[in-house]
Amino acid sequence: MKTTYDVLIIGSGVAGLNTALCLPDDMEVLVLSKDYAWECNTFYAQGGIAVAPNEEDIPLHVKDTLDAGAGHCDMKAVELLCSEGPKAIESLCKSGFQFDSDENGNLLYTKEAAHSTDRILHAGGDSTGRELHLFLMQSLKFPILYNTQVIDLLIKDKICYGVQVFHANKIFNLYAKKIVIASGGVGSLYEYHTNSRTISADMHGICCEHGIELQDMEMMQFHPTVFVEGNAVRKQLLSEALRGEGAKIVDEDGNRFLFSYDKRGELSPRNIVSEALFDHHQKTNKKIYLDLSSFEKKHFKKRFPSIYFNMKNLGFNIPDEKIPISPAFHYAMGGIKTDFDGKINNLQDVYAVGEIASVGVHGANRLASNSLLEGLVFSRRVVSDICKTFTCKEKNIDFPNTAVSLINDGDKDLKNELRNLMWQNAGIVRTQNNLQKALNRVEEMLKLQTGKLIRLRLLTSRVIIKSALRRKKSLGAHYIKG
Ligand code: FAD
Ligand code: SIN
Repeated sequence: MKTTYDVLIIGSGVAGLNTALCLPDDMEVLVLSKDYAWECNTFYAQGGIAVAPNEEDIPLHVKDTLDAGAGHCDMKAVELLCSEGPKAIESLCKSGFQFDSDENGNLLYTKEAAHSTDRILHAGGDSTGRELHLFLMQSLKFPILYNTQVIDLLIKDKICYGVQVFHANKIFNLYAKKIVIASGGVGSLYEYHTNSRTISADMHGICCEHGIELQDMEMMQFHPTVFVEGNAVRKQLLSEALRGEGAKIVDEDGNRFLFSYDKRGELSPRNIVSEALFDHHQKTNKKIYLDLSSFEKKHFKKRFPSIYFNMKNLGFNIPDEKIPISPAFHYAMGGIKTDFDGKINNLQDVYAVGEIASVGVHGANRLASNSLLEGLVFSRRVVSDICKTFTCKEKNIDFPNTAVSLINDGDKDLKNELRNLMWQNAGIVRTQNNLQKALNRVEEMLKLQTGKLIRLRLLTSRVIIKSALRRKKSLGAHYIKG
C-alpha cells in the first residue's frame, strides 16, 4: 500500500469531504475515515445550513451569531463565516447540490431559534446532513480508507509529517506534505448525546499529548429537544426547525413554562432552553414534552420525514402524540485553536477545520445551523492556504512504527464511568465542587494502566473540566451554579 501522499485528510464529514472536493485534481490525496464514511455528525444533521439569503442579511447574520456566542466570538471569524457563506453555498449549488425549493424553484428558507430572519436552507426536509454527505461522497475524486483510526500525529521539531493509524488489525504510518484534521467533536465523552459513535475526541487527546493548544473547551452545547429514552447510544434529535415552525415545549400539565425564563419562549437560544428544561424539571419533577400538535400530519411527514419515521419506529404517533424530551450533549464549540486559514500556531504543515477547530465563530454558544456552514467556508480557506504554500519538495523522514496497546481489560468500564462522570459534573449545570470531584477522579483514572484510546478520552475530559473550573462565572453554554 502507498504510504506517502500530498495531503492526508482525517475525517469524512463535511469539513473533510469539502476539503477534498476543493483540492486540485492532480494532487495525491487520501481521506481517512474511522468507520464507514457516513458514520459522522454531518450525516445526522437535520435542520439545515444557515446562510444570508441576500447582502442585507449578512450584518444581521453576524449580529445573531455574535449574540448567541455571548460576546465570546472572534468578530473577524464571524464576519468571514457570514460573508463567505453565500459564496460557499453558491459553489455547492453550482456543483449540483439541491436544497429544497418551491414549485417555482425558489429556495425555501426556514427559521430556527435565535435567528432574527428565515435563513436556514435545508435538503430532503429534515435530512440536510444525509443529502449533503451523499453529494460530497458522490463528488469525491480521491481514495478513502475506511475503518482507519488515526492514533497519533507524527511530529518532529514543530513540523507534522503524517499520522500513525490502526487499520485492519495493523498499526502503521502514513506520510504527507500537508495534513488536515477534520475529525469532529467530542460527543461520546458524554452519557447522553446526539452524536455519531465515531465522535470520541481521539484527536483532541492526541493534541494534549503533543502540547497542541485547545481553546474554549468548557464551551459544550446541549441541545434541548432530544428523545433520550431507549438503549441507543446516539439519542434521537428533534430538530430546532420544529420549534422554528411551531412546535411547543410543555410540561405534563400542558404549561408552556419557557416564557417564565425568556420572553422568546421556544425561540430562545438553545443554552437558555436547555437550562430552563433542567431547572423546571429539578423544581417540579414534572416530565417535559415537545408538542407537535400544531402540525398537520401530511405536511409533517413531507417536511420532517426522518423524524417522522424514526419516531414512528420508536412507537410514537406523531404529530398527534407528544414526545418526552430532555437536553443532551450536542456540539463542542471549543477545539484546536486555529487562525482563519485553519493553521495551528507553532506547528507546520497541519490544519484543523470543522467541529474539531476553534477559529472563534461560535464563541460561548453556537447559533443553530452555523456548523455545516463553518465546515464549508473554512475548508475552502484551508485549501486556499494549502495551494499557496504547497511545494513538491519531499519531506524525507521516517518515524519508527511503535507498538501501541489501544484497549486494555477494564477500559470499557472506565469509558462508561467517564461518560457518566462527564454528564453529571461537566454537563448543563456545573458547580466548582462537582467539577473538582470529577477532575480528581479523572486524574486517578489517568494513573491506571489503560489502553491508548481511553487515555485520549481522559486527556480531553481533563481539559474540559479544567477549563470549566477556570471560568468562575456562567457564560453562554457554560452555566456554573453558586
Ligand atoms: P463530522 O461530520 O463529525 O466528521 C468527523 C469525521 O472524523 C468522521 O468521519 C469520523 O469518523 C472521523 N474521525 C474521528 N476521529 C477519527 C480518528 N481518530 N481517525 C480517523 N477518523 C476519525 N449543524 C448544522 O449546521 N446544521 C444542522 O442541522 C445540524 N444538525 C445536527 C444534528 C445532529 C444529530 C448532530 C449530531 C449535529 C448537528 N449539527 C448541525 C452539527 C454538525 O452536524 C457538525 O458540527 C458537523 O457536521 C461537523 O462536521 P465535521 O466534518 O467537522 O465532523
Ligand atoms: C437541529 O436541527 O436542531 C440541529 C441544528 C444544529 O445543531 O445546528
